[in-house]
Amino acid sequence: MAFPQHVRLVEVGPRDGLQNEPEPIATNTKLELIDRLGAAGIRYIEAASFVSPKWVPQMADHREVMQNLVRLDGVVYSALTPNLKGLEAALECGVEEVAVFGAASEAFSQKNINCSVAESLERFAPVLERAQQAGVRVRGYVSCVLGCPYEGEIAPAKVAEVSKALYEMGCYEVSLGDTIGTGTPLAAKRMLEAVARDIPMDKLAAHFHDTYGQALANLYAVLEEGIAVVDSSVAGLGGCPYAKGASGNVASEDVVYLLNGLGIETGIDLEALAATGTWITQAIKRPNRSKVGVALAAK
Ligand code: HMG
Ligand code: MG
Repeated sequence: MAFPQHVRLVEVGPRDGLQNEPEPIATNTKLELIDRLGAAGIRYIEAASFVSPKWVPQMADHREVMQNLVRLDGVVYSALTPNLKGLEAALECGVEEVAVFGAASEAFSQKNINCSVAESLERFAPVLERAQQAGVRVRGYVSCVLGCPYEGEIAPAKVAEVSKALYEMGCYEVSLGDTIGTGTPLAAKRMLEAVARDIPMDKLAAHFHDTYGQALANLYAVLEEGIAVVDSSVAGLGGCPYAKGASGNVASEDVVYLLNGLGIETGIDLEALAATGTWITQAIKRPNRSKVGVALAAK
């Protein structure tokens, strides 16, 4: 199969990238990060997470972030909303798109959102209903699609089942999360094949973490299958608080560099994106995990 002509990047740095940071990060730093990402040509930014501040303290300023970000024309600013409480708060802040997040692993679902997979789907149904009433689109995540920190291997059929449930419930797109970054390219292809039997390829996204250094290889494999939406995090920031040892998402700069080389359009200014990665890692005193970012900064 041919590569897509255009790929849409979903920048999850302000959410997935920062949610696990132990030291408080000023709301203004988050807002500046969002500004800079938009200015670099990113058209979709996951800006905040309306989850319990007891569970994820770093996202406790979700209202301040969502209400104060400077909206650029043509940019979608979204937020995670695991339940109706989260959705109502997000709607009050004028969110135009939200995401629910489930898992292909029972154990991870319990640790992450305190309920079984079946219960999570029951919780998401009213979130989708309410969001639709409000004219807000809902994205769906499935975690642990290539392995679980508690259960180990995950069957592609289980990923397909949960993805299908989210899609049929009304999620306009399902993002497939390799939460702990253990996947390898053939496994990624097989998992995607199982999911794509029930869901059109253009309704699927790849959300790969880079813990084992496989994320770019895995992306190449699923781009070949027709995936055209890629989640990534500037400077490779991040990790999931309920997946110990999981490192950040694949770095946005590295994805853009790969796509540029393949002749796939993104509309993103790589230099500006890399400068954003340099800035945020200095601001929060973290190493820059984008190889491209480090290489460009050294020039
Ligand atoms: P729970 O304790 O079962 O919820 O948590 P509850 O309904 O029993 O409520 C307990 C307390 O939480 C109450 O407060 C509620 O008001 C409050 P209290 O009376 O004790 O003071 N509460 C909330 N507060 C703020 N916002 C809300 C909310 N809901 C309840 N929305 C819950 C269930 C889902 C809330 C909890 O488990 C939680 O917040 N989990 C967050 C998990 C999380 O954010 N994980 C990281 C994101 S997922 C991820 O990173 C993976 C992804 O990137 C894809 C991939 O890589 O695979 C997406
Ligand atoms: Mg993630």
